[in-house]
Amino acid sequence: MPGETQKTFYLETFGCQMNVHDSEKVIGTLMAQGYRQVSTVEEAGLILYNTCSIRDKAEQKVFHRLADYKKLQAQGKKFGVLGCVAQQEGEKIFERAPHVSLVCGSASYRNLPQMLIQIEAGNQRVTGLDDRETDECFETEFTARTNPHRGYITIIEGCDKFCAYCVVPFTRGKERSRASDSVLAEARQMAERGYTEIQLLGQNVNSYKDPAGSSSIRKKTFAELLTAVAEVARIKRVRFTTSHPRDFGRDIVAAIESVSTLCNHVHLPVQSGSTRVLDAMQRLYTREQYLERIAWMKAAKREISITTDIIVGFPGESEADFEQTLSLLDEVEYDGIFGFKYSPRPNTPALKFEDAIPDGEKARRLAVLQEKQREIQRRRNERHLGQIAEVMVEGKNEARGQWIGRTSQNKVLNFKAPEGVTPVLGSYVPVVTTGCFPNSLLGQMVI
Ligand code: 5AD
Ligand code: SF4
Repeated sequence: MPGETQKTFYLETFGCQMNVHDSEKVIGTLMAQGYRQVSTVEEAGLILYNTCSIRDKAEQKVFHRLADYKKLQAQGKKFGVLGCVAQQEGEKIFERAPHVSLVCGSASYRNLPQMLIQIEAGNQRVTGLDDRETDECFETEFTARTNPHRGYITIIEGCDKFCAYCVVPFTRGKERSRASDSVLAEARQMAERGYTEIQLLGQNVNSYKDPAGSSSIRKKTFAELLTAVAEVARIKRVRFTTSHPRDFGRDIVAAIESVSTLCNHVHLPVQSGSTRVLDAMQRLYTREQYLERIAWMKAAKREISITTDIIVGFPGESEADFEQTLSLLDEVEYDGIFGFKYSPRPNTPALKFEDAIPDGEKARRLAVLQEKQREIQRRRNERHLGQIAEVMVEGKNEARGQWIGRTSQNKVLNFKAPEGVTPVLGSYVPVVTTGCFPNSLLGQMVI
């Protein structure tokens, strides 16, 4: 019956954790509207892509998908583009892919139920693109979380930083924080449902500003909110991402020191080790100021693992600038890095910068960066040998007969369990590290 296929949807997500979590909320919203999620494009009446435009490669993926499945329109299937590419390209998507009937940026998800009604009524061009100045967050009671143990909570949406290379302020709109009492209510509800790990999300969680909630509740700083979530009964781990060094305060380090449920891991994107490049990137801090924050973490009573993001080949990045990024790796000794070749993005100031670095040179710098970091991680991970860490059991690698665990420091620790012991997924068990690689640890469960 046609009625049956019309109320099914397939959703594929690209991009960051914010997008993954947005998709959980979109899925919940669609289910509340009577839609059923299916796992293949063929079964679905409505096909949605939640897209990313952080780099050109990510953006192209959605256009490939749309081209691949264009022929399915003849079967009456409808297509929607959500997220960052939707917001960036707007109605141009209808020209490039005329089989698309919904284009909606993340700041407009609150209006999805009305948009779905319009699509069902046969409207060929439904848009949600005009909400980037909104003060509201996408709060919904219908979040469809996929993992039963670990879940995300958004605390701040959008970004006002306008780094010279970045599309996010253009795609996700202006910065707006969620009231701390609402965040805490969601954390308590998750704890009641059996979640033990919460990850607080935002493009820049450190610029969290508690909006006036109920007048009896004092506004919380980000560090206070972190602590309050970490103190929710039955919550065993709280993480947060992403931090901007400019707003990263010492109070966050103090919170990690004193609250054991706050994970001892901080992702602090540096982007470059050269103050000259940082200035051109409009990052609002110098190498020295960044290193000061690293020093706070290194001096903490708990050992905090530190990870970062780095862009190589930003316009005008000289060999000497790049060398400074390499020397920063030596100085900080990160536990992990995400390295990227600079990708020019629409609307951003850097698009007009001169002295573009050729792609081959960007690739070379990226390879040098990653090789250096690999060596640092191989060496650094050795310090875990013989240590006992508590891991959350995340899965099993049947082929290797190993369980997959994750430490508070966010390291993957694959381990063997003693004969006859079957660790429960989502439980926390002690594991002694017996081997190490650049990107993971190996261990034996202790009983
Ligand atoms: N080109 C390459 N990398 C980028 N990032 C953001 N914008 C760009 C761009 N235009 C990287 C940054 C950021 C991470 C999420 O993606 O390192 O921290
Ligand atoms: Fe991609 Fe940035 Fe949008 Fe996340 S916020 S989906 S990383 S463009």
